[in-house]
Amino acid sequence: LGRDPFTLGVAAGDPDPQGAVLWTRLAPDPLNGGGMPARAVPVRWYVAEDPGMRRLVQRGVAAAVPELAHSVHVEVNGLRPGRDYYYRFACDGDEESAVGHFRTAPLPDTQLQQLRLALCTCQAWNSGYYPVLRDIARSDVDLVLHAGDYLYEYSPLQNARGRTLDAERFSGETVSLERYRDQYALYKLDPDLQAAHAAHAFAVIWDDHEVQNDYSGIHPEKPGVSTEEFIVRRAAAYRAFYEHLPMRSTPAGNGGLRVHRRLRYGDLAQLSLLDCRQFRPANPCGVGESARCEAALDPRMSMLGVGQEAWFAQSMVAAQGLRWNVVVQQLLMAQLQLDAGTPRERFWNDAWDGYPLARNRLLQALQTGGTGNAIVLGGDWHSTFVNDLKLDFNAASSPVVATEFIAPAISSGGDDTPYGPYYGPSIPQNPHIRYFDGDRRGWWKLQLNRQTVDAELRFADSVLRADAEVRTAARFQVVHGRPGAVPV
Ligand SMILES: [Fe+2]
Repeated sequence: LGRDPFTLGVAAGDPDPQGAVLWTRLAPDPLNGGGMPARAVPVRWYVAEDPGMRRLVQRGVAAAVPELAHSVHVEVNGLRPGRDYYYRFACDGDEESAVGHFRTAPLPDTQLQQLRLALCTCQAWNSGYYPVLRDIARSDVDLVLHAGDYLYEYSPLQNARGRTLDAERFSGETVSLERYRDQYALYKLDPDLQAAHAAHAFAVIWDDHEVQNDYSGIHPEKPGVSTEEFIVRRAAAYRAFYEHLPMRSTPAGNGGLRVHRRLRYGDLAQLSLLDCRQFRPANPCGVGESARCEAALDPRMSMLGVGQEAWFAQSMVAAQGLRWNVVVQQLLMAQLQLDAGTPRERFWNDAWDGYPLARNRLLQALQTGGTGNAIVLGGDWHSTFVNDLKLDFNAASSPVVATEFIAPAISSGGDDTPYGPYYGPSIPQNPHIRYFDGDRRGWWKLQLNRQTVDAELRFADSVLRADAEVRTAARFQVVHGRPGAVPV
């Protein structure tokens, strides 16, 4: 190939007791379409028990094909449960990739004592650097949950990194398959993002920006684009998402990709990963903020779509008897009523507040999985929340059915502080919101034990420097059987 093809790093994803998905993409000229010949290229892969790659346990050859941008997805099986593994790729010359690490999940009947998760979201490349991902790379976690906005469709020509990019390739919004690929390559070149992937297995879901801001199902954010045009753009975006992430290949209809899935960690936790974008109808009350409209109270309004909602009900049956029932999704699930009690009272329709009856159905289904063990994780808001989830947020007497942690952005928003002043005054009117910060970038470190979930909030001093410090800002605890996080 002449040049190093492993410019975009390596990644492992969706671990189970037998293995994981191992990913790389050959791209010797990453910001210029990849720079690969228009033919399939063999890629050797190795899995070992040691970081020096001496005690090999599996090896094989995969084909990197031009139809998938010369990405490689090796679905490894036959490994041992609950173990550390290392992996590497190599090409026909002497080119070798970096070595990555992942940990397989334990067997479902294992009495597991502890699971450590990183929860992160929203990594706009143009807004700043990734000290948050560097901090995650250095932390001892079993799995990184990325709740979406892994990529933004906006032009990165103007960026906080001061980086000059090809004005023709990167101007305007990302619409074509070629541009989505270049945009992923730009993100993937970041050394801290590569380090986080090399250090830990990820489980990634998407939010809106992997396609377009605030889209819903087959409906674009703004009118003026036909459904036919939008569905072609969406299919290109979904395909590029698969090409750049360690996902199992599960196509869905309409040029879709199945993102909702379950991961299991012994008898300690089940993680149900949701897709709140692909199957939902257009916002019943319109895009943006508004008062709650009549259409939002139509019981046919769904967030997950009929098929995923039925799958979620099964998922909650599968969670019975486990210590923790974890739901990983992309949006703010708790109600956030803005300027309550005034003529300006309103909700943000893009999140679960736009689909209140679908939220109630989900929270009711959650109770099937057990009492007081449900944890909901999310992102999207570029803010940090800790919430009590209730069937009726307006009734103090309505019991708490789950605890919600919303991750701050990795970088989106930069060092600006736009949301504290905007949302802050409404927070006291929403007493189920136990903690809010609208102005800082960071991540949650969540440790699931048998009796508690211990949550540590990490904030970066800045995202305008790659080497900025990241520090613990707050700690919360959830006690098993007693939903609702308390500060510790
Ligand atoms: Fe975002």
